[in-house]
Amino acid sequence: ANPSLLILAGDGIGPEVMDQVKRIIGWFGDKRDLTFDVSEDLVGGAAYDAHGVPLHDDTMAKAQEVDAVLLGAVGGPKYDNLDFSVKPERGLLRLRKEMDLFANLRPAQCFDALADFSSLKKDIVSGLDIMIVRELTSGVYFGEPRGIHIEDNMRVGINTQRYTEAEIERATRAAFDLAMKRNKKVCSMEKANVMESGILWRDVVTEIHADYPEVELSHMYADNGAMQLVRAPKQFDVILTDNLFGDILSDCAAMLTGSLGMLPSASLGLPMANGRPKAMYEPVHGSAPDITGQGKANPIACILSFAMALRYSFDEGAEADRLEAAIEKVLADGARTADLMGPEGGTPLSTTQMGDVILA
Ligand code: NAI
Ligand code: MG
Repeated sequence: ANPSLLILAGDGIGPEVMDQVKRIIGWFGDKRDLTFDVSEDLVGGAAYDAHGVPLHDDTMAKAQEVDAVLLGAVGGPKYDNLDFSVKPERGLLRLRKEMDLFANLRPAQCFDALADFSSLKKDIVSGLDIMIVRELTSGVYFGEPRGIHIEDNMRVGINTQRYTEAEIERATRAAFDLAMKRNKKVCSMEKANVMESGILWRDVVTEIHADYPEVELSHMYADNGAMQLVRAPKQFDVILTDNLFGDILSDCAAMLTGSLGMLPSASLGLPMANGRPKAMYEPVHGSAPDITGQGKANPIACILSFAMALRYSFDEGAEADRLEAAIEKVLADGARTADLMGPEGGTPLSTTQMGDVILA
């Protein structure tokens, strides 16, 4: 059977950028004999308009069955005043929660032609290709006890950093499995010098490493990691870290490479019966209401999200390389959507035209 994909294009520029991905999926079927069973459905405001909920139960059930979900973006001003329980974002949160997507993958990949967009010097980021794996469903954002209490007539704000070994283990396995599809190198970041959860994190990662003898493992304190990430990011391949440190480190890494219109992401869960992890791929950007309907959206973040699906859900690393090489080439040739234009100006490509040159 062909691998299956559920496309949830969503709102705003979501459907615009996803249209280009659909053309590319078609190309792989025609030219590379790589055919996907694609189904499409609604999420976010689009689902609310049709069903009164941001994710229909049938859509949720489909998402649980397919090999990968590809999501565009959700939200927009039209939905800003809806009740919290039916806000577009809730559709996304429901997918993440019910699919139990505990490993968030954020690559920082530098296309040479865009190196000037980086906040760092060109030679530090040129050729950069790293991946941050952030544990997404536990840690200090969820740990109990939490709250604001009165103690000795003073308010005290409390959060608890809490990780079970099972939670650390599954995130670690996701990172090692990923490393096996990349350069077999993992750096785990915590604060084992001052935090018990960090000591346990380091212990568990070291134990699981025994199952992945081919992977080179190192450990680093997360504060040093932040420093190394901007000093010499190319020393890393896969960085494994917890929810809090990963939140900060991944935003920091994103800016190593520049525009929001270029950033893909993935969220992975446990392996399914066929060995593939539960997975959802999506651009980091939102629905961009300020440019919706104008043909200005950069489709590359969404296309790169599909490239991640090829590599990490479908073991088609060579085809992912092919797609990324096409993007690298068009950028080197000067193809730019409006968000990638420098102050020197010029005529930007439309969303569809960017799709055209990548396909060509
Ligand atoms: P946004 O990411 O939609 O837009 C921020 C800025 O970046 C805008 O100026 C936009 O035009 C530009 N931009 C974003 N993607 C682009 C692309 N592919 N090509 C060219 N320019 C691009 O974030 P914002 O404005 O904070 O949120 C807008 C809506 O999107 C809100 O309703 C928000 O809740 C939702 N949102 C949804 C997300 C998701 O679906 N995962 C993530 C972030 C925001
Ligand atoms: Mg953040």
